[in-house]
Amino acid sequence: MEPTSFVLFGATGDLAKRKIYPALYNLFVDQKLPQSFSVIGLGRRELSDEEFQARVEQSLHDYSRREANDPVLIKNFISSFHYNVLNIGHKEDYQRLLQRIEQREDELALPPNRIFYLSVGPEYFDVIASNIKESGLGSAKGWKRLLIEKPFGHDLQSARDLNQKLSKAFAEEEIFRIDHYLGKPMVQELGILQQNNSVLDALWTNRYIANVQITANETVGVEERAGYYDQVGAVRDMFQNHMLQLLMMLAIHLPKNSTSEEVRLKKKKVMESLEPLQKQDVISNVVRGQYKAGTIQGNPVIGYTSEPNIAETSMNDTFIAAKLRIDAAFWREVPFYIRTGKRMKEKSTRIVIEFKEPLKQQSSANNESNIPNLLVFEISPNEGITLQLNTRDPQHKGEFKPIHIDFHTSRQDMPEAYENLLYDALHGDPTFFAHWDEVELSWKWVQPILHAFEENLVPLHHYQAGTYGPAESDELLAKDGYHWWFDS
Ligand code: BG6
Repeated sequence: MEPTSFVLFGATGDLAKRKIYPALYNLFVDQKLPQSFSVIGLGRRELSDEEFQARVEQSLHDYSRREANDPVLIKNFISSFHYNVLNIGHKEDYQRLLQRIEQREDELALPPNRIFYLSVGPEYFDVIASNIKESGLGSAKGWKRLLIEKPFGHDLQSARDLNQKLSKAFAEEEIFRIDHYLGKPMVQELGILQQNNSVLDALWTNRYIANVQITANETVGVEERAGYYDQVGAVRDMFQNHMLQLLMMLAIHLPKNSTSEEVRLKKKKVMESLEPLQKQDVISNVVRGQYKAGTIQGNPVIGYTSEPNIAETSMNDTFIAAKLRIDAAFWREVPFYIRTGKRMKEKSTRIVIEFKEPLKQQSSANNESNIPNLLVFEISPNEGITLQLNTRDPQHKGEFKPIHIDFHTSRQDMPEAYENLLYDALHGDPTFFAHWDEVELSWKWVQPILHAFEENLVPLHHYQAGTYGPAESDELLAKDGYHWWFDS
């Protein structure tokens, strides 16, 4: 791996502490960082290098997947970290930063390969990108890469505007848009499994699949993010990005050994084939919800509009369920049901593929054993795959009972999403980052929902915290003769 400078904007922020430093540390322990590696942390407050290093070390103790208890290892790791004060709008600060980076490049004999990670609010993305360009920080002889987090825009137009501004300083292949769901190990497995197992590959079609259910339930509420969340809701916070990325990853049909370019084109194709929603479709195919007070795992929690800094009259969505269709050969007529919500009964992200029922004609209508085959991908907090099959019950001849073929991994062995993503970014592998085409097409598809919500065309259903969302979400499937699996 090529030696690199890792320049982190927002180095004293929450994401850096919780995710980025622990991920870098775990890569370091696994010897997956370049031999020569320099991290320059940037923030508004004054900090010495030592103070910064102490913060980084603390974050490892608090959040690292692996124990951080070997003082020599930790010292080696944090000695790569240095800190610079930077005010995002001050051009002269970028000049000072350039000198500091060059000084470290000289000291470590590093080529001028630079990653700029913007772990800051999206309102700063374009200012930073243009200052990187104007200061000459991005015009060294080596390569440069820009890493940014969602949200990428607020709607189609703002996303396009932002992309246009960024593209003045960075080419598309230099922009790595993080969607952390794409870094989750099971999500990365989705395409691979279908691609490398003929048994799955053969089944991956509307001939056998009845429907697909994609769920991302959370137990947390709005937390301390009222200012952000009340402006975006579940549709922008989760649906436009994470949920549609899960859909793309599941629906692509990849030939073996596909290149990252092929993956991108296939994902784009899925988005292009998603049947667009008209206003009327939004009303019948989308359910909007907001949590009210309830109990989660024995603990009482307050309703959304009683949360600090949320207006009593807020109509923001904390839950969304939708039915989508992909108008492409393999998927025609297969409904995809997607839902995500806060303050749900349990934390679980999973994809369930329900197969058509070969046993239907053979068994009586009320027969309990008449259970379809299911293929379940558990994405988080557990990671695993389960295949539900029907076997004959030896005790009760003539009846069938489901058995489960299970594969589960222990979390400890699994790299965190950010480890996978940072590793790929260091390698320059864009496969698991959101390409602009995907982002643009996702916003385009979601836009009618945003309008319908704004115009209040879709009723806001209140659901009790600690449940699986409003009853209307169940009805969405019931209309087609299905139900959400594993709601209990
Ligand atoms: C973030 C959202 O992108 O994803 C949060 O902004 C949400 O609101 C989080 O809680 C969920 O991520 P995960 O990995 O815990 O499912």
